[in-house]
Amino acid sequence: MLRVIDNLVVREILTGIRRRGIDPAGFRKGLSDIGRYMAYEFADTLRWRNVDVETPLGIASGVEITDRSRIVVLSILRASLPFTEGVMRVFPEAEQGIVGACRSDDPPFNVSVDYLRVPELDGKVMVIADPMLATGNTIMGILEALEAHGTPERTVLFNVISSRPGIERILEMDMEVYTCSVEDELNDRGYIVPGLGDAGDLAFG
Ligand code: PRP
Repeated sequence: MLRVIDNLVVREILTGIRRRGIDPAGFRKGLSDIGRYMAYEFADTLRWRNVDVETPLGIASGVEITDRSRIVVLSILRASLPFTEGVMRVFPEAEQGIVGACRSDDPPFNVSVDYLRVPELDGKVMVIADPMLATGNTIMGILEALEAHGTPERTVLFNVISSRPGIERILEMDMEVYTCSVEDELNDRGYIVPGLGDAGDLAFG
């Protein structure tokens, strides 16, 4: 399942964070804002139930998102940190995991997963927040490393910009992808073109 967020506000934020010369604070805020909007869109797919709520003047019908307690949000260092911060505003009680992965800028773009601390994943709704999906090698390496930690009921990838080849790899698996843009080209360093550059450097210098 691929969901491209085409909300006008999100498109405007994406336009801003792609602009050459954006400062780190502005870039981080843009990632955080997109994470929040993406989490709102995703929330519509969660399980919920009807509840009644007592107001000062009577009883109103309302809802409760019953999936909240099953959500695990994984951050992929580094650029994921501000993106995750936005997601966590919508799901503040979610469990969190941290993964450190590093991908080479030279073919064949090997990945090393150097750090991984995640909660038990069996039966969970696992959201992997990573702003960029380029070759797809990083996410593949991470999914392999996560196998030892249980089988989530849902595996959901949140991207800001995704490459078409990366998306095709992901959709061959039982995964859901939310993204703001799917772009065709990768350059010889494995960066998405036009993309936005190196998200980690833009966020943290
Ligand atoms: C970026 C991005 C992904 C990865 C995607 O991280 O945040 O994790 O590249 O590339 P891939 O799909 O080709 O594997 P990067 O390795 O630049 O780390 P950083 O955030 O620390 O800069």
